[in-house]
Amino acid sequence: MNEAIPQLVNYDEPSLEAAFATLAEEVRAADTTDPEAFRLHWLGRKQGRLKLVSEAWLKSAPAEARKPLGIRFNQLKQQIEAALEAPAAKPAVAAVQGIDISLPGTFRAPGIPHPLLKTMQEIVAVFHHLGYSTNLGPQVESDFYNFEALNFPPNHPARDTQDTLVIANQQTRPSRDRLLMRTHTSPVQIRTMIEQGPPVRIVIPGKVHRNDAADATHSPIFHQVEGLCVDTNITFSDLKGTLDHAMKALFGSDVKTRFFPSFFPFTEPSADVQISCIFCGGKGCRKCKHSGWIELLGCGMVDPAVFAAVDEQRIAQGKEPAYSPEKITGFAFGMGVERIAMIQHGISDIGHFYSGDMRFLEQFA
Ligand code: DAH
Repeated sequence: MNEAIPQLVNYDEPSLEAAFATLAEEVRAADTTDPEAFRLHWLGRKQGRLKLVSEAWLKSAPAEARKPLGIRFNQLKQQIEAALEAPAAKPAVAAVQGIDISLPGTFRAPGIPHPLLKTMQEIVAVFHHLGYSTNLGPQVESDFYNFEALNFPPNHPARDTQDTLVIANQQTRPSRDRLLMRTHTSPVQIRTMIEQGPPVRIVIPGKVHRNDAADATHSPIFHQVEGLCVDTNITFSDLKGTLDHAMKALFGSDVKTRFFPSFFPFTEPSADVQISCIFCGGKGCRKCKHSGWIELLGCGMVDPAVFAAVDEQRIAQGKEPAYSPEKITGFAFGMGVERIAMIQHGISDIGHFYSGDMRFLEQFA
């Protein structure tokens, strides 16, 4: 319902001023989200408020008041039309009062890369500078690529460390073809070597999945960067030199690395890499559990059984075998992006990365 037009008793300047100011304020405060409704309300031919104003005030105005009244009437009309042209911005105020340049402008915060993406790109960049290129693979992976070709035979106990979600209703398929959410980025090593012969120098960033309960340092979905270097004459010292360089590039040139014997089915020998604690410089603190060292990634020399699985597949696809362990050696490594980002930034709860809390994310802008 349109409100009635207020009565105009006097036509002197102050009365006109006050009457039109009330209407200007009404226009300014009006909802313009439905421009057609707004237009009808103010400019409708029969019942529009402007028409009512004209009938109530203009017709009975004394001759000397016509001019000041007309001027104000036109200003009001312009204000309404301006509001219609830019309903969202409501620039009608500007039409009457001028633009207040002291008010803050419309602010749109620019987007930033997520801190995890940033760290992932940093890691990848370190290896790009060493001549590596990037390869990607699917997150829904077959048992063959995720386990079998990487020398985890069916029922091997090493599979227990990487439990995952398995796609339903695949009992009729051979076990190697069954689909699952990949538990690591290592299957892309196999995909790459089946596709291309040596030399291979690649990094593989990506998302992986495990049946792990979420806590301060674990998440069932997380990210890894894998690396693979295969050529003639690749030795364990190449692996050590490469990873020592990468850790110094990521954490600062003071950082030291050390290698501990470990086990992965797809590398032999295998090692865990530790870096000197970046929080205490190796003296021992709570972050490094007073050992002076932080465990960061796994690595090793590619197991000949992996090369054999690759060549078998190449032959099955009509390609030349290319990975004879007599001629070809290689190393591989895999690291958790969350873990590295947490150490870089001193973050103690992995959940912050996924919470979408702007107070956390904005710190990385
Ligand atoms: N795939 C291993 C994991 O997810 C990490 C890893 C260890 C990758 C050693 C490698 C490697 O390529 O050589 O736990």
